[in-house]
Amino acid sequence: MPWQWRRTHTCGGLTKQDAGSTVTLVGWVANQRDHGGVIFADLRDRYGVTQVVFHPEGDAAVLETARRIKSEWAVGIRGKVRLRPAEMVNPRLSTGAIEIEAEQCEIFNESGILPFQIKDPCDATDETRLKYRYLDLRRPQMQRNLTLRHRAAKTVRDFLDSQGFLEIETPILMKSTPEGARDYLVPSRVHKGRFYALPQSPQIYKQTLMISGFDRYFQIVRCFRDEDLRADRQPEFTQIDAEMSFVTEDDILPIMEELTRRLFAEFRNIRLPNPFPRMGYDEAVSRYGTDRPDLRFGMEITDISAAAERSGFRVFEEAVRSGGAVRGIRLEAAGPVSRKQTDDLTEYVKGFGAKGLVVLQRTETEWLSPIVKFTTPEFLAAAGEALSMKAGDAAFIVADKAKTCGEALGSLRKKLAADRGLIPGDAFAPLWVTDFPLLEWSEEEGRWAAMHHPFTSPREEDIPLLETDPGRVRARAYDLVVNGSEIGGGSIRNHRKSVQESLFRSLGMDRETAERRFGFLLEALEFGAPPHGGIAFGFDRLVMLLAGEESIREVIAFPKTTSALSLMDGCPSEVSEDQLKELGLKITE
Ligand code: AMO
Ligand code: AMP
Repeated sequence: MPWQWRRTHTCGGLTKQDAGSTVTLVGWVANQRDHGGVIFADLRDRYGVTQVVFHPEGDAAVLETARRIKSEWAVGIRGKVRLRPAEMVNPRLSTGAIEIEAEQCEIFNESGILPFQIKDPCDATDETRLKYRYLDLRRPQMQRNLTLRHRAAKTVRDFLDSQGFLEIETPILMKSTPEGARDYLVPSRVHKGRFYALPQSPQIYKQTLMISGFDRYFQIVRCFRDEDLRADRQPEFTQIDAEMSFVTEDDILPIMEELTRRLFAEFRNIRLPNPFPRMGYDEAVSRYGTDRPDLRFGMEITDISAAAERSGFRVFEEAVRSGGAVRGIRLEAAGPVSRKQTDDLTEYVKGFGAKGLVVLQRTETEWLSPIVKFTTPEFLAAAGEALSMKAGDAAFIVADKAKTCGEALGSLRKKLAADRGLIPGDAFAPLWVTDFPLLEWSEEEGRWAAMHHPFTSPREEDIPLLETDPGRVRARAYDLVVNGSEIGGGSIRNHRKSVQESLFRSLGMDRETAERRFGFLLEALEFGAPPHGGIAFGFDRLVMLLAGEESIREVIAFPKTTSALSLMDGCPSEVSEDQLKELGLKITE
């Protein structure tokens, strides 16, 4: 670039005060309007947009250039700042009071035909946006999101630094210790037939650092998990990972809350409660059907099994008698629920394993429901009472195993709230969910699996149950949930080797397997391992909430698709025979 085109200002910086000065701006043409005589162009960079005017009486060559320039060409403009006529002032733009009377115009580079228009909101498909991510990222909204991400990371670092945390990097090539999601593997060239794994999290390293005496560690760190993806999951994502020594839950949670409060205050201008509310796992699941309840709205799940057991309606009675439950949620002032709506909602809950859905409506004078003719007035009165139903309300009832009732109604609750506009727009409801079970039964593997990860400490009083009644052991684990999204999770860890070994055994791991996978950790625990615990936040999810976005892809510069593809550079891709040979690998079908 010729040196004389070095900019004097950005496209977002000029105000009334600059009127009269001569400036040089560089950037991209957001648009060009040729009014026959006068030509207007908007010049954009990541700081803003500035309007440029080319007058017909100006230099002919400059006018000729101005006529040619099109959207997304990279150009430079030199000219005089002048106040816009009063009726042309745009109060929505930081530069809306001024424009540049162009005297020179330099084209640095032209642009090909654009696959989509660079504007907010973007009307291209997600595929197109990801394929041409460099164009998508030119949109002001994406530039704001990535700027916010940068600032949030800085706030996190500054805050944790002020609290005495050290940021320490941990390896990206590590030992494969599959537990939880699948590992991404990296073959070793030097040691053929051996593999590194990419970290699913720095869990083991941060615990090791505690043993080394770095009593307050953190890291903003990339993690890799080969799992099924959704809107809030990426194969590689970023955590704010932290660990502390000689602490209990009541040391860790307040610091992490304070960090969260600062982020929301700084970037959303919102004061979150102090302290955050806490709720036990069992309570969350029974009231909201999920361990990550969205507390921005009510519509809690009510158990009506007691009344349903003698309702006369066979489906309900059988559900209760076979050890299941009958549960419902109430939609206040629902108005009439049509046949079609009922069918759609029934299909919806079937997606969560429910066998059906009973809609019960209450009018001033009667109960409306397909089950009215099968059941008794006493049941209807009791159910209505339990669900606090008033005239105009509707209840949605599922009979099934308790778990299915919860999953179906928990999801229906969110759907109804979203469909009916019952979720307040700018509300944030943080919640600590505590007292998780340590283990959950994995049908797939036919064994107990760690609900968080296998380093989580059981409650002291539950340790004896580890090898006798594993399902009843409670964990010293906690999740931070905001608006129904799991933002972070952590626990107090096992710092005693005997407890860790006992836990491995209840996970169905024999001594040899435990030794092979985690021998180094078990050994390290023998050398004065301090009591310790920590947490990791999903940084992408946090930034997503701060940015008001619906998907973490909107706050990641180069995300992957739900099938883990990078559409821009086309990875994963095949590699050459030579590369494979060097690694001692062969591809079989
Ligand atoms: P966990 O597995 O709960 O805990 O992860 C911590 C947080 O990371 C976020 N997260 C994800 N974000 C985007 N894409 C993903 N695929 C993804 N997976 C998880 C979530 C989650 O709450 N080592 C432990 C933490 C600890 O115990 O200290 C861990 O990784 O917001
Ligand atoms: P059926 O007797 O199967 O025709 O069902 C009568 C009504 O009960 C329909 O509205 C079904 O959707 C509903 N239903 C059936 N099974 C269940 C269930 N397990 N829980 C709630 N409603 C159900």
